Amino acid sequence: MVEQVRSYLEQHQDQAVSELIEFLKIPSVSADSTLKSETRRGAEFVLKQLEAAGIESRLVETAGHPIVYGSWKKAAGKPTVLVYGHYDVQPPDPLDQWTTPPFEPDIRDGHIYARGATDDKGQMYTHIKSVEAWMKTHGELPVNVVFVIEGEEEVGSDNLDRFLAENKDLVASDIAVISDTSQYGPGLPAITYGLRGILACEVIVRGPRQDLHSGVFGGAVTNPGNGLAKMIAALHDDQGRVQIPGFYDGVLELTQEEREQFAALPFDEATFMSNLGVNAVAGEAGFTTLERRWARPTCDVNGMISGYTGEGPKTIVPAQARVKITCRLVPDQDPKVLTKALEQFLRDQLPLGLTMEFIDFHGCRGLVFDFNSPYMTAARTAIEQAFGTAPVMIREGGSIPVVETFKSLVGVETLLLGWGQNTDNLHSPNERFSLESFRQGTLASALLWQELSEIQT
Ligand code: BES
Ligand code: MN
Ligand code: MN
Repeated sequence: MVEQVRSYLEQHQDQAVSELIEFLKIPSVSADSTLKSETRRGAEFVLKQLEAAGIESRLVETAGHPIVYGSWKKAAGKPTVLVYGHYDVQPPDPLDQWTTPPFEPDIRDGHIYARGATDDKGQMYTHIKSVEAWMKTHGELPVNVVFVIEGEEEVGSDNLDRFLAENKDLVASDIAVISDTSQYGPGLPAITYGLRGILACEVIVRGPRQDLHSGVFGGAVTNPGNGLAKMIAALHDDQGRVQIPGFYDGVLELTQEEREQFAALPFDEATFMSNLGVNAVAGEAGFTTLERRWARPTCDVNGMISGYTGEGPKTIVPAQARVKITCRLVPDQDPKVLTKALEQFLRDQLPLGLTMEFIDFHGCRGLVFDFNSPYMTAARTAIEQAFGTAPVMIREGGSIPVVETFKSLVGVETLLLGWGQNTDNLHSPNERFSLESFRQGTLASALLWQELSEIQT
């Protein structure tokens, strides 16, 4: 049975790559309102591909970008798998740092380079191709599938949550599958059993009505740039601990066993540092780098701006300063409670003479899954067969908001099966995806449908 699927995939590999190239040419940047119709083209591409694979599908309109919904439910008595992915991508900036343009996919050194190559177009596409292989060779799938491919993951998935809440019956399932994380390293596939959550906000502090001459007025009014810097500096102590009151309440501490599991994973700090181009690792005192990245909460500046940033000097007291901040959260921190606590903390630090505006963008909780479920076992078997190596069990520091919604609303856990690498420059210039990982991921997906079909529900 599976042999025909395997050979179908082999014979159609080149075609799958050229389709992926077409997909990657579409600049579906959800954050950029000038690219609204291009983003829609991303959805239309997915729709067409799902239909070509034999999955009845449609576009669901939302207040923002459309959701692609497809389902095939003819495997009576078999589990139903909810496949999620996103066709939207991060903005490609800074453009001048790309070797080849972000929306002109280029193949070199065994990788396809383009914005969205790994996050998440390339990874998500593996599941469409695996389903196509089953449908073309057998006319049916070994399990029932529901596809939900959205276009707002990179901006917080607000409209998706609304769709799911209003259409619970459409997404009723036994298990969710998402390929939007990473392998542990080259040749080391992984199953991710935990993700961090997030809260995201922007803070604007305002001083004088307009920029002022810093010689004439400087020293007599509070400088918003200096003021905001002081507020930001107050967020951490010198042990790297976040100072927002209540921040660590409810933080699920690592068990000794989990710390040992993390420590047993191959990790070379020198390579890690040189990959990132830093001369030291740093963070919360008392934790290793993997612990800091996967299981400890953070508070990071994502961007800040104030005053004149053009060429040469300019002597002013700026009228305002702004910063974008995200906190990565772990179970059981509550993003809503902590957003309020962060706002209050910053207001408490606000220097005299400034006012503050706080914009709450979005948030979601962190999660950890039981990694002994039969679904996890099925995924392990499929990955081992496709990659030739058994996957390691890891947590990840990134966030996929819908995973929490799947758990709380649909009642399903998620298999996070990442085919990418953390060195694939996701959200950065020169994003890429290995063609070999694309091939192996597609095969693992095809084998997973078979493995999952053997689970009694
Ligand atoms: N695919 C990533 C999340 C990810 C990447 C998890 C690598 C684990 C390893 C996803 O597209 C993403 O970027 N999520 C955002 C969520 C946010 C915009 C709500 C993130 O983590 O910043
Ligand atoms: Mn993603
Ligand atoms: Mn992303």
